[in-house]
Amino acid sequence: MNIATEQHHFRIETDNDSIVWLHMDNADAGTNVLGSEVLRELDRHLEAIASHLPRGLVILSDKPNGFIAGADIHEFTRIRNEAQALELVRLGQSVFNRLAALGFPTVALIHGFCLGGGLELALACRYRVALEDPGTRLGLPEVRLGIHPGFGGSVRLTPLVGGLKAMDLMLSGRSLDARQARRIGLVDRVVPQRHLRDAARKLVLDAPPAARPGWPDRLSNHALIRPMLSRVLRRRVAARTSRLHYPAPYALIDIWQKYADDPAQMLQAEADSIAHLVKGVTARNLIRVFLLQEQLKALGRDTVWKPRAVHVIGAGTMGGDIAAWCTLRGFRVSLQDQSPERIAPAMKRAHELFKRRLKEPLAIQAAMDRLVPDHKGMGVGRADIVIEAIFEDAAVKRALYQHIEPLMPADAILATNTSSIPLEELCGALARPERLVGLHFFNPVAVMQLVEIVNGKSTAAEVSSKAMAFTRLLDRLPLPVSSTPGFLVNRILMPYLLEAVVLESEGVPPAVIDRAATSFGMPMGPMELADTTGLDICLHVAHILSGHFHTAIPERLQQLVAAGHLGKKSGRGFYRYDKGKAVKPGTRSGNWNLQEITDRLVLRLLNEAVACLRERVVENSDLLDAGMIFGTGFAPFRGGPLHYIEAIGAPVMRVQLQQLEQLRGKRFTPDSGWESLFKTPG
Ligand code: NAI
Repeated sequence: MNIATEQHHFRIETDNDSIVWLHMDNADAGTNVLGSEVLRELDRHLEAIASHLPRGLVILSDKPNGFIAGADIHEFTRIRNEAQALELVRLGQSVFNRLAALGFPTVALIHGFCLGGGLELALACRYRVALEDPGTRLGLPEVRLGIHPGFGGSVRLTPLVGGLKAMDLMLSGRSLDARQARRIGLVDRVVPQRHLRDAARKLVLDAPPAARPGWPDRLSNHALIRPMLSRVLRRRVAARTSRLHYPAPYALIDIWQKYADDPAQMLQAEADSIAHLVKGVTARNLIRVFLLQEQLKALGRDTVWKPRAVHVIGAGTMGGDIAAWCTLRGFRVSLQDQSPERIAPAMKRAHELFKRRLKEPLAIQAAMDRLVPDHKGMGVGRADIVIEAIFEDAAVKRALYQHIEPLMPADAILATNTSSIPLEELCGALARPERLVGLHFFNPVAVMQLVEIVNGKSTAAEVSSKAMAFTRLLDRLPLPVSSTPGFLVNRILMPYLLEAVVLESEGVPPAVIDRAATSFGMPMGPMELADTTGLDICLHVAHILSGHFHTAIPERLQQLVAAGHLGKKSGRGFYRYDKGKAVKPGTRSGNWNLQEITDRLVLRLLNEAVACLRERVVENSDLLDAGMIFGTGFAPFRGGPLHYIEAIGAPVMRVQLQQLEQLRGKRFTPDSGWESLFKTPG
């Protein structure tokens, strides 16, 4: 069978059983994505294949990293109006409709990621076969971009796995591994690599009936049940996000509730809704966040560095977790502290992390074998990178460096996890200061994506690049920052936290302050954040910063620390803690002006962000926004602090600061950076 269509992003092969194998392999890209050009080519191939009446069609990817990562997000940014958005969505829908309507068996052969539009394509096939491997990930993460599936995803997923399971997957945006996908009926077969092609071939030749869910799952789609389930789903979504800030999940529930019995209408509603959402502020900002993430991921990509052995000094909160994370990512790690007893709790925590993440006993054991407790510091001499995470005390750190430097291999790099000390205060102890770089992880290491790469005046460019490449190997996002006190994230966060303390000492209940921040879009309020970080740590960082920036430290913070109320870890801080949970009294009573509280918190944060940009703590405003989003969770739908200022208008915000300055004092004095900010030409 000779299918003669022009093949640019695809390759067609026909075997002796008359099965067509359609290999997707995006030209000039490392990852398969579905842009309009690719969709049009796919459409032409499907038309040609259909006319040859093969025994069956298998769609697979030639990219080693996965099947299809989703729609082409870059194309979204070029959409100018709803009509263009609608055109793109309709194109995807019509191609997948053609695929779904083919009169012979069709199989998606899935390895690696199969996300968004990629999974929608797989759903348009009659069968799905997935590779049994932890790297196989299936999901519909569109809500994270402020939209929802648009190429028929919700129309096909809900009848396949049941309304409730389908909605849960789409509303959370989470992805499933192959076995989880099999369990809910999303894939038909899960097989190891050597059986992949055979499994697909067998499905085509046997052509069993397409999968159907059991009756409880079918029932969840019933017209009489949907209104009730929709209410439950809306309540669940509302606990996390508001319709005002994140309209997409609510739109998805509405569409399912109204149209689940009528696929044609549901497709239409899907398309109209996406076209509307994609032009909204939330989607535009969330797409911006996605692109910022790509920008950070690209840093360090040009440096080829393959470190093997990592040595971590300090097995406390941070060092212990950094060592565990490096081990999880495949490195051999030695972990040093002053005594074996100090290392033991970190080993226990590491074991728990491995159990949670790796699940398989053999893989857990292999990870434990890679992590070696090393109180004598034997690993220093073999390490490609030494990470120091001991007490935040410059003199203690310097003494350690003097001791270990002669033992380190000549080309090893030394990374410090200091959260606030400029590198210039540390590198004097080194014969070769050019190999010291900051690798500032955030707490908890397994959750926080950002790592600040702190470049001191003497840090060699090559060392900084290696630190970024290493961060990517750890699947974290590197952000290059200059070595000024507090670097970027802590420096910007601190005035916001301190303003919260001032508000609390004025009598505003902590829960009211936190509510003001979370309704602005912060993932956690500043009071709870301070308690979680530890009030002693906050005070320590505040002291270091106030030494440089003359920020007053509220007495209340010092009093709490002096009384031993250190936050969550001591059971009491701004809140009392019961079994690790903050006890928050009701916040409805009282006539607090939430808007004023939010303004005071947020404007201090924004003012510091402007100061950091003026001082070039980071290279540009995009990197600053990325740092605050990935380092603190700053309201992603607002696109980052500087983007938010741009949206509201810098002059308006500066006036607000000036008003607060008159009312509340110098801590609100606008930074001189506001003047040059977003000046319109002319
Ligand atoms: P920690 O007090 O939990 O742990 C420090 C560990 O270092 C202790 O186990 C101590 O025995 C060990 N240590 C001290 N001197 C040593 C030496 N000479 N040789 C070997 N081990 C030694 O401290 P934590 O919180 O883990 O902080 C460590 C570093 O990470 C600090 O520089 C801190 O500023 C930074 N950091 C802390 C964050 C946090 O949230 N705790 C977040 C980001 C950075």
